[in-house]
Amino acid sequence: MLKIGIVGFGFMGRMHTRCWKARTDARVVAICDINAGATQGCGKGLGNIAGAEGDVDLRDVAIHTDPEEMFAREKLDAVSITVPTHLHAAWTIKALNAGVHVLCEKPMALTLADGRQMIATAEDSGKILQIGHCIRFWPEYAKAKEIIESGVYGRVITATFQRLSATARTKQGSWFSNEEQSGGMVFDLHIHDTDFVQYLFGTPLSVCSHGALTPAGSIAHIVTHYRFNDDKLVTAEGGWALVPAYGFEMKFLIVMEKAVLSFENKRTPTLKLFPAEGEPIVPELEQGDGYSRQIGHFVRAICGVPVPSVITPQHALQSLRIAEAERESARNGTHVNLT
Ligand SMILES: NC(=O)c1ccc[n+]([C@@H]2O[C@H](COP(=O)([O-])OP(=O)(O)OC[C@H]3O[C@@H](n4cnc5c(N)ncnc54)[C@H](O)[C@@H]3O)[C@@H](O)[C@H]2O)c1
Repeated sequence: MLKIGIVGFGFMGRMHTRCWKARTDARVVAICDINAGATQGCGKGLGNIAGAEGDVDLRDVAIHTDPEEMFAREKLDAVSITVPTHLHAAWTIKALNAGVHVLCEKPMALTLADGRQMIATAEDSGKILQIGHCIRFWPEYAKAKEIIESGVYGRVITATFQRLSATARTKQGSWFSNEEQSGGMVFDLHIHDTDFVQYLFGTPLSVCSHGALTPAGSIAHIVTHYRFNDDKLVTAEGGWALVPAYGFEMKFLIVMEKAVLSFENKRTPTLKLFPAEGEPIVPELEQGDGYSRQIGHFVRAICGVPVPSVITPQHALQSLRIAEAERESARNGTHVNLT
C-alpha cells in the first residue's frame, strides 16, 4: 500500500485526493496546506472541471501546514504537488531530496532553469518525477492519438485545438492573475494544448502566435500556428477572458485524408469520427478521466511496471519551451524558431 501526501489542498489538491482515495493500492496519509482553513472545508475549489468540489473525508489523514515538516514526520512513498505554480520547483525538489516520488501539477515550473533543476534532482535521487499533463491521459485525446497513429484514416491535413475559460474573471485578484506566480494564461491554460500538440506531432520547427493583451500586458487570448516539416496545418487557440455563463470549453477538430475527428466537451457524445464514407462513429473510450488515469501511470512507474512512457519530465520541459516561444511570438509579432 503506497503512502501518499498532498502538498496544497485547493482545487487540484482535492481532485488528486479524490483520485488517490479511489485506488485500492494507495492511501492518502497526510495533507499539507499553508492555509490551515483549507482542510477545514474553507478552501473549496472552483476549477474548470467538476470533481473537486465538496468535502473530502479526512479522517485518518494527518494534517500539516508546513510541507518540510510533513516530509520529515510522515513516511511517504509519493506526493502530489498541487500548490500554485511558482512553488512547484521548490517543493518538488524538497520532496525528491526527502526520498519521495513526485507527481507535480502542470506547468512543470515557470522557467526552463527551474524545470532542468527538477529533472536533475529526480535523476540524482533516483525517484520518479511525473508532471500532471493530464490531457495526454484524457480518454478522448488519448483516443485521438490512437486513431491518428493507426494510420487507418491517412495522414493529418489539419488539426486545431481550443481551450476557453473565464479564469481571468473567476480568479481575479488571486495568484492566477499574477503572472509571476501562474505564468499567465499561456502557461496555465493554453499549455495543455501546447503539450498535446507536442505529444501528437513532436516539437514544431517554429511557432507564430497572435495574442490579445490586457492593459497590464499579459496575454488573455492566444492563437498559435505550429509549423512542422510537412504541409499539415496545426493551430491552437486558448483564452481565459470569457464569462462564467459561457462555461469551460475544450475542443479539437482533426481532418485526416479519410475521416474527420471532432471533440467538444459540452456535447454528447463528446467524440465523433466522421469517415469519408459511411455513418458517423462514436469511438469507444477508456474508463476514467485524465486525472485518475495519470495517477495510474504514476503508480505503475513507481512500482516499476514496464509501460509505455506517456509523459516524461523532458516532455514537460519541452512544452514549457514551446509555450515560452508562443508568449515571445505573441508579444513581439515574430516567428520563433525551436530548432
Ligand atoms: N491539470 C489541470 O487540469 C489543472 C487544473 C487547475 C489547476 N492546475 C494546476 O494546479 C496547481 C494548483 O492550482 P489550484 O487550482 O489547485 O490552486 P488553488 O489556489 O485552488 O490551490 C492551491 C493551494 O495551495 C496552498 N498553498 C499555497 N502555498 C503553499 C505552501 N507553501 N505549502 C502548502 N500549501 C500551499 C493554498 O493555500 C491553496 O489551498 C497550479 O499549478 C495549476 O496550474 C491544473
